[in-house]
Amino acid sequence: MNRFVEEFLRIEPAVQGLSRMTTWEVELGGRILPKGAHLLLYGSGNMDEAAFPDPLTFDPTRPNVGSNVTFGGGAHRSVGLALALMEVKVAAEEIIRRLDDFQLAVPAGQLNWLPDVSLRALDSLPISFSRRETT
Ligand code: HEM
Repeated sequence: MNRFVEEFLRIEPAVQGLSRMTTWEVELGGRILPKGAHLLLYGSGNMDEAAFPDPLTFDPTRPNVGSNVTFGGGAHRSVGLALALMEVKVAAEEIIRRLDDFQLAVPAGQLNWLPDVSLRALDSLPISFSRRETT
């Protein structure tokens, strides 16, 4: 389940990026960024083929499954990381435990992604399910 959560957050990061500005000249991926350069979509690092081969494939067995940038990186890495991982894990476990026949209630192409540069979020997620019989 830990690997499932990490890979799920790598492939669908809720935060695609936040505004950042270099405070001095730095080298990144072989390129020189001048002081004052603006950076935004660092979430694309989760699709870096050098780090995650075949990045569009959901693969919880990746050896580096936890080294995504979904929570940012460095000194400002999300302080909510451990809480968020636990919340997703608990939610997924409860969905599996309580619900059966869990599926999208509309074709995936009809989902409405909000027009936001930074966040990747839906305005709604219609689902259908039945209650799982517990023993
Ligand atoms: C799936 C859930 C979450 C995601 C994807 C997420 C993602 C992020 C990202 C990308 C950053 C910026 C990191 C950077 O600048 O390198 C951040 C910062 C931060 N997050 Fe989260 N976060 C999540 C949940 C939470 C929760 C549950 C809390 C608090 C309970 C939280 C508190 C913070 C705080 C305080 C910062 C600022 C850290 C700083 O600037 O030093 N986050 N988060």
